[in-house]
Amino acid sequence: MKEVLILGSGGREHALAWKLAQDAQVAKVHVYPGNVGMLATAKVFVHLEGVLNKDELCAFINKLAPDLIVVGPENILAMGVADWPEIKSYPLLGPSAWCAQLESSKCWAFEKMLQWQVPMPRGLVVESVEAAKKFIEESFEFSGGVVLKADGLKSGKGVVVCKQLDQAWQTLSEYLSDQSSPLYSPRVLLQQLLPGPEVSLFALVDGERYLPLGAVRDYKRKYDDNQGPNTGGMGCVSVELDQLASDEKELGELYQKFFGRVVAGFKQENTPYRGFLFAGLMRDEQNQWRAIEYNVRMGDPETQTLLPLLQEDFFDLLKDAALGELKKNNLERKAGVSLHVTMTSGGYSELRSPLSLRHPIRLPSDLGTQLNDELALFWAGVGKEGNQFVNTGGRVLGVTAHASTIEECREKAYHLVRQIHFNHGHFRQDIGR
Ligand code: AMP
Ligand code: GLY
Repeated sequence: MKEVLILGSGGREHALAWKLAQDAQVAKVHVYPGNVGMLATAKVFVHLEGVLNKDELCAFINKLAPDLIVVGPENILAMGVADWPEIKSYPLLGPSAWCAQLESSKCWAFEKMLQWQVPMPRGLVVESVEAAKKFIEESFEFSGGVVLKADGLKSGKGVVVCKQLDQAWQTLSEYLSDQSSPLYSPRVLLQQLLPGPEVSLFALVDGERYLPLGAVRDYKRKYDDNQGPNTGGMGCVSVELDQLASDEKELGELYQKFFGRVVAGFKQENTPYRGFLFAGLMRDEQNQWRAIEYNVRMGDPETQTLLPLLQEDFFDLLKDAALGELKKNNLERKAGVSLHVTMTSGGYSELRSPLSLRHPIRLPSDLGTQLNDELALFWAGVGKEGNQFVNTGGRVLGVTAHASTIEECREKAYHLVRQIHFNHGHFRQDIGR
């Protein structure tokens, strides 16, 4: 029997733990540090005292000696966990710090994508407002706006879609010169504004091969009708593959362009990429897909939406990828669609406003009987005071429903979400609309 260790603590990690725990050959799933809500899932253990620094993590891993380590968030990958010689003997799924720059630096990624000929929006890296002038003016003239991307990890808050010229100038000068701003960035990537729609596409990569996992549409804005600030994700719906391409051949070409070229590019440079790969795609004016970004991990809450649809056991699959031995080239999927609704704390995603935390979370008394294979509750920013759950982070929890139609998913997911209450708790009402 196998023991798995997942690093991270959010809803994505809960969904990974839930999926791995369903595998008959897995005896225990440890999540470090995890959260108290995850304990509701059988076989899952959390290590809340766990600290994410190299010494503590290596000591913990060497003591546990897991059969597989799966890394959830990008910050742990950017720390270089996949490169540490102290834990090299354990199969670990996640790219090296070098490869993780694909997410941790928008400017580095832009240069790599250019080199590997990955289709993307027109772009330019600038270090001064003057250097941006021509690009921004042309972008407004041809596509009605510009997108500014701060370099470096900014928790999903470093991208501003500007449809007003003065907003573009103001944001750019804040990025480039306001050293007190959390978004300060001496290099900024400018991108042409694409009309969309947008989709998140996932693959499992073993250094040489990629296995497509599926596609999901994320609802990024905080409020209904896509109003309000960008967030890490307020909900998702699964996307049928025929919404991506008109036939199998076109789908294969799409995977090749957005996964194959990246995997081959890293391999050619002798820095093979192993781990989950997340391509953020958007359609351009000619209806062609372009990559607006890559992430070097699964998405949150995309994972909570995607995994309930996958038929396959996860342990062998993830271990094979970690060891560079992926055997499958397609996955069994369950019939139907899935949908996820996220609940957030008051103040979430407003850069300068504090989160409203430590409110008691009231759950329906029959929660345990409501949850099943088709309805799952994934916990994220949650803690306990005595026996009482309280909210402790921006994204607190999420509910995923799996059914034949999106409308049925909506009914099931919202039926549960509306029975969960905490002060200033917020969720979008229009996921799947
Ligand atoms: P990113 O972190 O690069 O995915 O950007 C965050 C969000 O900004 C994306 O999910 C899109 O909704 C939006 N966005 C990013 N790049 C573009 C673009 N070139 N055109 C339009 N919207 C974009
Ligand atoms: N939901 C978007 C992300 O995980 O980056």
